[in-house]
Amino acid sequence: MKLLVTGGAGFIGSNFVLYMLKKHPDYQIVNVDALTYAGNLENLKSIENNPNHVFVKADIRDAAKMDELMGQGIDVVVNFAAESHVDRSIMEPDVFVKTNVLGTQVLLDAAQKHNISKFVQVSTDEVYGTLGDTGLFSETTPLAPNSPYSASKAGGDLLVRAYHETFGLPVNITRCSNNYGPYQFPEKLIPLMISKALADEQLPIYGDGLNIRDWLYVEDHCSAIDLVIHKGRNGEVYNIGGNNERTNLHIVKTILEQLDKSESLMTYVQDRPGHDRRYGIDPTKTMTELGWKPAHSFETGIQETIRWYLDNKEWWTRIQSGAYQDYYAKQYGTRLGDRA
Ligand code: NAD
Ligand code: TYD
Repeated sequence: MKLLVTGGAGFIGSNFVLYMLKKHPDYQIVNVDALTYAGNLENLKSIENNPNHVFVKADIRDAAKMDELMGQGIDVVVNFAAESHVDRSIMEPDVFVKTNVLGTQVLLDAAQKHNISKFVQVSTDEVYGTLGDTGLFSETTPLAPNSPYSASKAGGDLLVRAYHETFGLPVNITRCSNNYGPYQFPEKLIPLMISKALADEQLPIYGDGLNIRDWLYVEDHCSAIDLVIHKGRNGEVYNIGGNNERTNLHIVKTILEQLDKSESLMTYVQDRPGHDRRYGIDPTKTMTELGWKPAHSFETGIQETIRWYLDNKEWWTRIQSGAYQDYYAKQYGTRLGDRA
């Protein structure tokens, strides 16, 4: 099987590429990533000599390039490429619409032209908006996005749906809850708090800290997408989550406790505008239809994650200093010439 993975140098995309090459060593992966600030080829160091992994630096909005790549015998497209950080979307919505909506449409056009046998759109539970104290998001919950990020993801999802309904493109949409684990960019809650705690800096908690997210270890997200590729019914949406709802305060206190740091580092700051109060996924359909089950509990997953950030301090300090962005030129510059 030959996969085109977009955004495969980001957090979940790189975990997915590593997971798939381990699980299916004979699969071929073409990994397309624009290497925005969030893309980091150092995540893929362990497979840089694997002949079944080819990295291409390109933007998913580049229609000619996507057409060329999909014309090379691609069976399955998995679209991770996105602008993904809510706070950035509040400061700069424009690039979110360009990548998450227009980029998705460019990929859909190329996939349709080349008769791709499956297009998997990796979406988010955030398209459903926010929950009150009770209830869970199911696949039929109406879309009600509240941030420019989630609105742009919902826009992408609706185009994916439309290409299925109108042109018969074989698609699936996955909507997963918050991920955590190795290689997450240290702007998101868990790696940010780990890095700040280790530096004895203040940990910024938005609002009252009682917003709830439903956390899933990234490898469990990858295993669900693998099942969707192989068993997902065309046109269907699959929600992915492991029933791990926690308040932000719980997360931050767990990190401080495991790092043996004082809770006095916690600092309440002004709330995020439009801050969704609670997310909670009902994963019943994905579990019963596809036979998916998460392998990690939150308690073991968070311990492993903290351990990974402790053991890989160089990885995130190179992000903080900007040095990670030199890696592409060093690794690929001379090999790819002007394609770099
Ligand atoms: P990320 O920001 O870590 O990675 C995104 C990747 O996409 C980066 O490597 C970046 O360089 C690349 N990219 C951005 N714009 C591009 C463009 N125009 N062309 C090509 N590549 C481009 O994001 P992530 O956390 O790994 O999320 C991956 C996907 O999963 C996103 O679609 C996101 O909406 C979805 N998702 C994320 C979470 C989460 O908790 N992180 C949860 C559910 C769903
Ligand atoms: P984040 O990791 O940005 O993911 P998302 O907003 O997509 O769920 O944030 C997770 C939660 O943590 C969210 O409720 C906002 C909160 N948060 C803070 O309290 N402080 C921070 O510095 C950050 C980045 C997030």
